Amino acid sequence: MSHHARPTEAAARRPADPSAMSLDRRTLLQAGGWIVGASGLALAAGCTRTPSPSPTTGTTATAGGAATAPWAPPSEPMAFPEGFRWGAATSAFQVEGSTTADGRGPSIWDTFAALPGTIDGGATGDPAADHYRRWRSDLELMSSLGLGAYRFSVAWPRVQPTGSGAANARGLDFYKNLVDGLLERNIHPAVTLYHWDLPQPLQDAGGWPARDTAARFADYAAIVFDALGDRPADWFTINEPKTTAYVGYLYGSHAPGLTDPEAAVRAVHHQLLAHGLAVQAFRARRAADADAGIGIALNLQPVYAAIGAEAAATRADAVENRLFLDPVLRGEYPTDAIGKLAGQLRADPAALETAVHDGDLATIAAPCDHLGVQYYGVTAVDRSGGNVEMYPKSEASWQQVHAEGFYETLTRIRDDYPAIPLVVTENGIPDRGPDGTLADVERREYLRTHLQQAARAIDDGVDLRGYYAWSLLDNFEWARGYTQRWGLVHVDFDTQERIAKDSAAWYRSVIEANAVAPGE
Ligand code: FCB
Repeated sequence: MSHHARPTEAAARRPADPSAMSLDRRTLLQAGGWIVGASGLALAAGCTRTPSPSPTTGTTATAGGAATAPWAPPSEPMAFPEGFRWGAATSAFQVEGSTTADGRGPSIWDTFAALPGTIDGGATGDPAADHYRRWRSDLELMSSLGLGAYRFSVAWPRVQPTGSGAANARGLDFYKNLVDGLLERNIHPAVTLYHWDLPQPLQDAGGWPARDTAARFADYAAIVFDALGDRPADWFTINEPKTTAYVGYLYGSHAPGLTDPEAAVRAVHHQLLAHGLAVQAFRARRAADADAGIGIALNLQPVYAAIGAEAAATRADAVENRLFLDPVLRGEYPTDAIGKLAGQLRADPAALETAVHDGDLATIAAPCDHLGVQYYGVTAVDRSGGNVEMYPKSEASWQQVHAEGFYETLTRIRDDYPAIPLVVTENGIPDRGPDGTLADVERREYLRTHLQQAARAIDDGVDLRGYYAWSLLDNFEWARGYTQRWGLVHVDFDTQERIAKDSAAWYRSVIEANAVAPGE
């Protein structure tokens, strides 16, 4: 299999500090083939309950030194609970195109993509998958794939072109029509309010490092809640606040392209505050028994330790996972995420302390109806906190593929936090090569092995309610532009023709059976 190894602008910009590198999913250190020996595997704190087999020996060394046999899937299909929601996901900027239609204002991604050298091939959000104009035929496509649910995001700059003030009715109409079209086809809508397309005027006023952006988000959320009325839906406030804070404000390879550690820390807090304020706005508008619930969508992963790196891995776990899970689910920030030690987010801890006002944590921890979990792979660190490659990477340089890490992530949330229903809001893998393939065996195997781990977690008592494959369509993959294809459905970006890949047919059979069968 040929990787299209291309030096990326992200790699070129990566910081010299190796411990900082571990924080950036999109600028991961190219580990130069350095694989830590099996005997060096250990699991970071928080991941010790479900040790992971080493890639080479099948035994596991945990921080506590225990070793267990690897898990083997049963030879029978693994069934999912009745009513389990099977879906696929997209986001507005990645699929819609039509970036100036019907009064849409500019977002930070329009601005960022227009800068030379930011996006592979100089690509922009036009045409993307032209979904803004093709949504009706895309609904037919979803029906033909047998989807029971569809996760999409609302573009804030369509609803409030300047990020504040009166709603733009034409922008809202698009989403009302989309939701009605889904419901007519018996496809459950999962609506994300923010998937990275901040209105540019709000960035000009300071962006997520500015506290006022959280208040603006609450206003915007209220507009969307009112517009969509009582339609049944699962709501998600913010998609991956970690990626926005670290990749957008610290490493600069996503919009808005800044490299300011303290700004990144404030961006974490204000996104979480925005989430909490939106939950309040939701509760103020929805009857408790409404057929709708709300939560946040967090990207999470186990953090493994190379030999002697347990302390660094524990801190990296705070940066990757607990900095988001603890405030949302427990109303407190971890104390070991930010500082100068190996594995920490290298910023002044005062940036967080001064950003947190009285009452913020109670707002952030407002009870939610579900938690969105986005799982792509694992992280592993050495004793300096630098990234280590322990498992094979996909075409995405930041993705170390390890299906058992999915089980570990799901069970860890169950074990370490108060009970909350989980929904897997993203999980997937890109095609090899910029042109992709319809015979996407690798994706089918990725989905199959990950769904087996999801079923295993459910069998072990995890309250998992749904699963959304990323992505329905090939689309604009951020800094990778149109060169990295994550869709179940291939898109020809010149003609906008859609062709289902083999994995889509396979996924349809999983949905029909409500079960995942063992591999051949
Ligand atoms: C996730 C993003 C999604 C897409 C996938 C590949 O982190 O939420 O938009 O880029 O990665």
